[in-house]
Amino acid sequence: MSVTFRREGPVAYVELDNPPVNAIGLSIRQGLMDALDWIAEEAHLDRVILSGKGRAFAAGADAREFDAAPMPPHLPDVIRRMEQCDVPWIAAVDGVALGGGCELVLGCHYRIAAPGALIGLPEVTLGVIPGAGGTQRLPRLVGLDTALQMISTGKPVNAARALEIGLVHEVAEDVNFAAEEVNAELLTTLPALADLPGPEMDANAVNAARVNASKKTAQQIAPQRAIDLIAASCSEPFETAMLKERATFLDLRQGDQARALRHAFFAERAAKAPERLKAVPTPELTHVAVVGGGTMGAGIAYALLNAGLRVTVLETSAEGVERAQANVKKIIAASLKRGLINDANAEDRRARLVCSDDYGQAADAQLAIEAAFESMEVKKDVFTKLQAVMAPDAVLATNTSYLDVDEIAAVLEDPTRMVGLHFFAPAHIMKLLEIVNGKATSDAALALGFDLAKRLRKVPVLAGVCDGFIGNRILARYREAADSLLLDGALPQDVDAAMRGFGYAMGPYEAQDLSGLDIAFANRRRQDATRDPNRRYVAIGDKMVEAGRLGRKTGSGWYDYSDGQTVDPKVAEIIAAESAVAGVKRREIGAEEISRTLVLAMINEAADIIHEGVAQSARDVDLVTLFGYGFPRWRGGLMHYADVLGPKTVLQGIEALSANDPVAWTVSPLIRDCVERGISFAEASSA
Ligand code: 3HC
Repeated sequence: MSVTFRREGPVAYVELDNPPVNAIGLSIRQGLMDALDWIAEEAHLDRVILSGKGRAFAAGADAREFDAAPMPPHLPDVIRRMEQCDVPWIAAVDGVALGGGCELVLGCHYRIAAPGALIGLPEVTLGVIPGAGGTQRLPRLVGLDTALQMISTGKPVNAARALEIGLVHEVAEDVNFAAEEVNAELLTTLPALADLPGPEMDANAVNAARVNASKKTAQQIAPQRAIDLIAASCSEPFETAMLKERATFLDLRQGDQARALRHAFFAERAAKAPERLKAVPTPELTHVAVVGGGTMGAGIAYALLNAGLRVTVLETSAEGVERAQANVKKIIAASLKRGLINDANAEDRRARLVCSDDYGQAADAQLAIEAAFESMEVKKDVFTKLQAVMAPDAVLATNTSYLDVDEIAAVLEDPTRMVGLHFFAPAHIMKLLEIVNGKATSDAALALGFDLAKRLRKVPVLAGVCDGFIGNRILARYREAADSLLLDGALPQDVDAAMRGFGYAMGPYEAQDLSGLDIAFANRRRQDATRDPNRRYVAIGDKMVEAGRLGRKTGSGWYDYSDGQTVDPKVAEIIAAESAVAGVKRREIGAEEISRTLVLAMINEAADIIHEGVAQSARDVDLVTLFGYGFPRWRGGLMHYADVLGPKTVLQGIEALSANDPVAWTVSPLIRDCVERGISFAEASSA
């Protein structure tokens, strides 16, 4: 029974009961219809109190049903019946009331929220619009401007704000008690929102919402369609606008963007420890050591402090200790300033932080995370010292981006305690955590990595050892293919614009200017010894570094930063000179060719990564690209997008490119396999 109902005197109680978050699927819709039938037969009721069992009022329509044809009773009809019911309905909201959950609230005549409640219409984040009256009832209740803001951004409001904007009548600790106390006479006077006139049209507010949506959610259809419908609430009769809303909702939910956003939503929630690790016992984390207090180490330390852990940051010198202390405190101060934490939280974090050059301080930590300089020698030294002071069962983790985890582990007497924990900068903000499974890594070390990810609310992805693991290996191929386009005729600004056009917030050259060209340079030097001599090598990046153009930090890189970000003709000269050296006749390369080439390069590399078992699945590649590398969420992740293209199109695209450069464009066996078997990348890697 997903909806239970009972009466006590004149009060009917209807409770949603579909754990864990009361997603509104067929059984809830049918249960509410049954409750309405029952209420129609009951005499002398003066109110119906609607609440949700457990931690949520209702998380919205059950998005798992969105791939199938809609089944009656439909939510708009359920809500319309509630609204037209002879007995007034009261929403008693404790927890979240989102999407269809919020629409149920809007269908009630009186609305109460607990102080911790969160109410909103986040449908656009799933690529759809409110499909059960949200675009029509909310503007009638809170006004055009506020409704535009809430629906087009999808951001929910807390109880205090809900009260302020008139979304709820009251905020109460005990929502059921408060609902019982509402004056019975008052209840009979409350209108159904559908019967209220629409709001006054305000073209400026509508335009402002459109501009904001085209900036914040560029290329996404749903926010603009939602704005159209909210604007329609000003002029169109309720029933007419509702038909349009429903048609738009059904149209969007089967579109590519909604499918991609649903995939991203469920993939994020499915990112958990593999089954075999769930039974592995792990110690309760209370104290973690972080080695290195630079940008990465400080970010990791802050993430750990945020999760309530005791943190010891280890450095090698007094100056290092001071710098680490300052770096972490800077993040605490910034979080305080942004209102993410209050004074007491800040003080509590400072109190749990120790920065020291005495490794002995880490003796009782259950885990150490090394975030020191990216040098094998340095890392080996760090782990030798950690091994000397920490308990033999403490887990030792390296945050290396590229170095061989197995080689680092070899300095340990017990290499099974070594795991890679690859964070992404800024580590307290970026959600991805690659958990690197070395040759010797024990299940206990891996399981602790997954525990940590959960504690830090990160998205964990299991990766095998290789150069760059999953994410940086794809990134390296992306950059290599982009450099090849530069050599053939494109300019950095063309490549960046094309990739922004594809949906990235930033192109590869803008991103490199931000992180520094010296990082990729150092990687290329590291790979010199192992690089295939037949592979095309583009030295443009090396020339840039030789010219001292390291990116934003030196005032110039692929762009000039003396006055904002501007194109610098000197860069075109460096590139043209390299094309001449390589004997390449430069040609025009359009945006479509650029984005197609770069995306295919990444897909081919990712397919190899899956084929080799470095990534467990196409879905894991999606998580890495979405949560660590800014792949547009509305495209669902790299391999989801590859499946939208289809393995056959991917194969044809790569074969065409390999005609000119067969070494860089060797087709991954996984792609051929998918084409031969007629299956998707998701299917090929889900077994
Ligand atoms: N549909 C289906 N399943 C859902 C769901 C939904 N709307 N919301 C959450 N779930 C599932 C999750 O997949 C997860 O399943 P799992 O345990 O099998 O992995 C489980 O519920 C718990 O979810 P979380 O792990 O996310 O739990 P949290 O407590 O961290 O967060 C939440 C709860 C804030 C409700 C979050 O899940 C959320 O934001 N959900 C989506 C809300 C939303 O976008 N609603 C709009 C839906 S579209 C709609 O309503 C259309 C309507 O207008 C007609």
